[in-house]
This record gives sequence, C-alpha cells and structure tokens, in this order.
Amino acid sequence: MSSVQKVVAVVGIRISANNIEDEISFLERGNPGILSCPLVGSGQIPLDQIEVMYWYFPRMSDENILISYFKGNVAPQNGIPAGVYDINRNFSLVIENVTDSYEGTYYCRVKPKLRMLFDGHVTMGVKVSPTEPFPDVTQCTQRISESACEAELPNDIEKPSLTCTVRDAKPAVALRWLLEYSDGDTQLISDRFTVKPSEFSVNTFTTSASIPIVASNVDTLYRCQAYGEVLGARNGSHVTVTVTKAHYIHGTPREHGSLLLSSNITGLFG
Ligand SMILES: *[C@@H]1O[C@H](CO)[C@@H](O)[C@H](O)[C@H]1NC(C)=O
Ligand SMILES: *[C@@H]1O[C@H](CO)[C@@H](O)[C@H](O)[C@H]1NC(C)=O
Repeated sequence: MSSVQKVVAVVGIRISANNIEDEISFLERGNPGILSCPLVGSGQIPLDQIEVMYWYFPRMSDENILISYFKGNVAPQNGIPAGVYDINRNFSLVIENVTDSYEGTYYCRVKPKLRMLFDGHVTMGVKVSPTEPFPDVTQCTQRISESACEAELPNDIEKPSLTCTVRDAKPAVALRWLLEYSDGDTQLISDRFTVKPSEFSVNTFTTSASIPIVASNVDTLYRCQAYGEVLGARNGSHVTVTVTKAHYIHGTPREHGSLLLSSNITGLFG
C-alpha cells in the first residue's frame, strides 16, 4: 500500500488565491454576498455602540469609500448608485451581485460611541461552484445515483482508462482516485490531476484526472473524489464507478489485484 502512495506522489496543479496570507472569504459569483468587518463580527465592538462606519475598496482612502453608515443612515458614496452595496443590521457589507471585478481587499472603519476609530480588513475571493452532479466520469454510460455510476468499457481498447472531471469551478477543485473494496476499505491510487481554464465558462477551471484500468474484478470499484474549499459542505463528494465487462483479470484476489496495480503504476509514472 505504501509503495503505491510513494510512487503516485502529489503532482497536482493547484490554481487558487491561497498564497495570500489572509484568510479569504469566498462569495458566490452572481449572488449577493456578505462581508463581515473583523472587529464587529468578532463581537469586540458591540453593534449598539457603533455611530459611524465606512467600507472602502480597493484602498482605504476617501475616494474609495463605497458606502457609509452615520447614526442610522446608510448612504452610498463617490457616485456609486444605490443598490450596489448595502450595510446590514450586523454592520456587514452586502454586495448585491458578486462579479469578478469585486475581488480584493475590503477595508472597514468603525467609530464607536466615546471611543476612537477602529480599522479592519477582509479579503474577498469570488467562487463559482460546479454544477451538480460532480464529479463526472467520462466513461460512465449510466448514473445509478448521485454518487455511483456504471462504465462499460469496449473490448477493443488496448489501455482502458477512467477519466474523472469537475467542470467550471473557481477556485479549481482537486481530484483523487481510490480503489474501493467490498469491505468498505479504500486505497489511494492516484492524486494526480490537471487543471485547465474552462472552455465555455469565463474565468473558471476544469479539473480532470485519468487512471489506467489495470486490475478488474467484481469486488473492486473505482472511486473519484473531489475536494476544495469551493465545494463547501459538499467537499469530498465522490462517484463510485462499477466497471462492467471486467474481462481483463477474472476473479483476481484482492492482494494480487493491488500488486498488479502498483507495478503497473510504477511503469506508467515512475
Ligand atoms: C449580476 O451581474 C451579472 C454581470 O453583470 C449579470 O449578468 C447578472 O444578470 C446579474 N445578476 C443579478 C441577479 O442582478
Ligand atoms: C447577524 O448576525 C447573526 C449572528 O452572527 C446572524 O444570525 C444574523 O443572521 C445576522 N443578520 C444579518 C441581517 O445579517
């Protein structure tokens, strides 16, 4: 098992804004989004103490004030039309329709009653969730459920493979392939994947991962798993592939199947 994992070490490409030190708040493109001012969101400044608030983008200067709150009144600034931004009851900034041009760092300035000014900032990244169902396996002819499908491989293909894809996500998702045994055990077979700009969806990414099918028996299933912060609660979503026409090796015991698999992967990637 460890030899397999050693051979298929991580070679995944990752495109995301993660190299920025700050934690990024991801908001969904085309939807309203809410950004919380750190000192206010953490409760350090009680809401009922706030007299004045300003939100700035992309810099903290008077010309970059987006919207202000002054003793109960919210007003857009610098000629920005009403309805683009708002300040809600929690003193969070509301962006009414998130698009890529909103990506960056937002600054907030708060003046509580009888206290000095407090400044904070929050970095926003635009995310685009992939449409379901995902991940998708190209060779699957039939989707049995949300997380299972059937692939029928033609007999005449010399090196059969499975290709898993998640389309049109931002930031790109990561993929891995595992073997799934009937006792529920899984074994990592590859965490290599490639990321390409999507063809039809602007500024999103398509991730794909292919594995050769080198051992097939009735007990062995292939699982493709997707992960990434863009998936939120659906992080780890997977699809389990049943390969029919398992004519390559019949009735191979599990140990033999794994051995064969690792030696083949060594030949392929090593
Ligand atoms: C949000 O903005 C995009 C790009 O300008 C536009 O296509 C879309 O219709 C807008 N959505 C809403 C709900 O206003
Ligand atoms: C304000 O914050 C509270 C707690 O974080 C949350 O439950 C509530 O939905 C928020 N209200 C608005 C208008 O954002």
